[in-house]
Amino acid sequence: MCGIVGYIGNRNATPIIIEGLKRLEYRGYDSSGIAIIDKDSKLKLYKESGKIIELERILPAPKEVYGNIGLAHTRWATHGEPTSTNAHPHTSCSGKIAIVHNGIIENFQILKNKLLAQGHVFASETDSEVVAHLIEHFSRKTDDLTLAVQEALKLVEGTFGIAVISEDHPDRIIAARKGSPLIIGIGKNEFFVTSDVSAIIIHTKKVIYLHDDEIVTVTRDSFEITTLENEVVEATISEIDWDVSSIDKGQFKHFMLKEIFEQPISVENAFRGRLVPKLSTTRLGGLNMTGDELRILEKIQIVACGTSWHAGLIGKYIIEHLSRVQVDVEYASEFRYRNPIIPKNTVVIVISQSGETADTLAALREAQARGVRVLGITNVVGSTIARESDGGVYIHAGAEIGVASTKAFTSQVTVLSLLAVLLGRMRHLSPVFGTNFINELKGIPEKIQKIIESNAQIRKIAETIKDATNALYLGRGVNYPVALEGALKLKEISYIHAEGYPAAEMKHGPIALIDENMPVISIVPKDVIYDKIISNLQEVKARNGRIIAIANKGDDVVSELAENVIYIPETLYDLQPLLSVIPLQLLAYHVADLRSLDVDQPRNLAKSVTVE
Ligand code: G6P
Repeated sequence: MCGIVGYIGNRNATPIIIEGLKRLEYRGYDSSGIAIIDKDSKLKLYKESGKIIELERILPAPKEVYGNIGLAHTRWATHGEPTSTNAHPHTSCSGKIAIVHNGIIENFQILKNKLLAQGHVFASETDSEVVAHLIEHFSRKTDDLTLAVQEALKLVEGTFGIAVISEDHPDRIIAARKGSPLIIGIGKNEFFVTSDVSAIIIHTKKVIYLHDDEIVTVTRDSFEITTLENEVVEATISEIDWDVSSIDKGQFKHFMLKEIFEQPISVENAFRGRLVPKLSTTRLGGLNMTGDELRILEKIQIVACGTSWHAGLIGKYIIEHLSRVQVDVEYASEFRYRNPIIPKNTVVIVISQSGETADTLAALREAQARGVRVLGITNVVGSTIARESDGGVYIHAGAEIGVASTKAFTSQVTVLSLLAVLLGRMRHLSPVFGTNFINELKGIPEKIQKIIESNAQIRKIAETIKDATNALYLGRGVNYPVALEGALKLKEISYIHAEGYPAAEMKHGPIALIDENMPVISIVPKDVIYDKIISNLQEVKARNGRIIAIANKGDDVVSELAENVIYIPETLYDLQPLLSVIPLQLLAYHVADLRSLDVDQPRNLAKSVTVE
């Protein structure tokens, strides 16, 4: 949600952290701000509501904000409206200490009351500001800024990724984390702190992921990590394995379009090195489970949010179909508070692109607290969910910047299909089936590419529905969750109300909505329930609904019924979602673009939801 960038070194911090902020804008973006300690060791603060461009407008000429140390923040409001006063950084009474904070301070009111009683004066309505005042309180007792921050954070209940600078210590940044990511970037005679590596990857690929309750003191040429109890911690330096091009739009108008177009490659990256043609199976090394453990598995409980939840639903269809292992799928926010029944021989699989979603993380911890093994399917290497899972699989989709998830979804489904084959081959699936599946999967990237070539046609279809106020998405079987995902894509970025339904369920309610203004987007591949979906479409047609069909080439029946047909290549039943979702992503994209909306940063949404 919110984003943090900090810099200390020999260069001017301002352009570096502003550029970093822009890279983080996709996470949450209702206001932003920077704090710089200038060459006269004075703390300068600039904050503005709205996008970062608004912040840039209020910055004085570059020379006046010259300093080698600074912090920046993009905010997604939780406590207090998105005004410039509530934007971060927040300062202490003396104006000498500045902090930026991601997360939520649950006991802020108690802390604030105590600080008010001691004479502290608060400027904002945020929970975060208490930390600046607490640090000031402890700074009066010690000259050591790190110790003051440690003492302050010991009093804080809740979550934080935090960074602190002080006029009295113009040679250091202190940063800490608990439940909200904080990363140190190591450059040459310079360091960065950030909540998301996208902000700093143009400067360095060497990073350290702080763990919960760790605090780091960074100077121009050194860093030291300790616990909040001041015990020194040994750091592990990691190398970021994706490239700067992932965070550039290149020739594309939006990240979302670029990410849709990347899917032939990202899907291939999800299965690369994981196919074992010789044994007609797949290999997922990171599961950390022996063959015996996988063989006795009786149930999988998938837990996720948003698009990742939709991928999980598809996983249920594929895994149950191929391996006959029972799969349940639940929203993380429900699972964590529901006292769920987890039978023996169950693993919990959490799916999260960002690896930081608060509800998914809490669900992971709840399952672990019950002694259940948790596997994580994540994209972001080193993310909290990736680290806390007992095993798992990275989807290797590369940075996903568009708030509406696209390539992460197809990569998640790819990985789930690999798991399905692995479990299936350990049970009853024949080598012939395994080989056929692997060969078909290998051909998927090319088939996705074929669909992407229909981009211009899909834009024309988007023209015909761009003024709709409602839309219905229908699919059956493995394509039912694809219908849900298609509807989610449309509503997220075009603000058109859309619902996904299993096609046959339409007559139990949604059919009442159908008239000549209602686009009905229907997934109709030639499979075992093809005839049933055709009957459902006849029902739509009889009520003058406007059908857009996703169908296989040469399907004349569908072309008779539908106003428009987008053709996709045929594939195995279990792999259909990897193809059928592509036109839906493109359709949503073009509708939003034709409505001149901010596709990559839709209103009210955040890429990674780190609050409940
Ligand atoms: C937010 C994003 C969605 C995403 C969901 C779950 O709502 O806008 O695109 O699907 O969070 O995120 P995760 O990172 O856990 O997959």
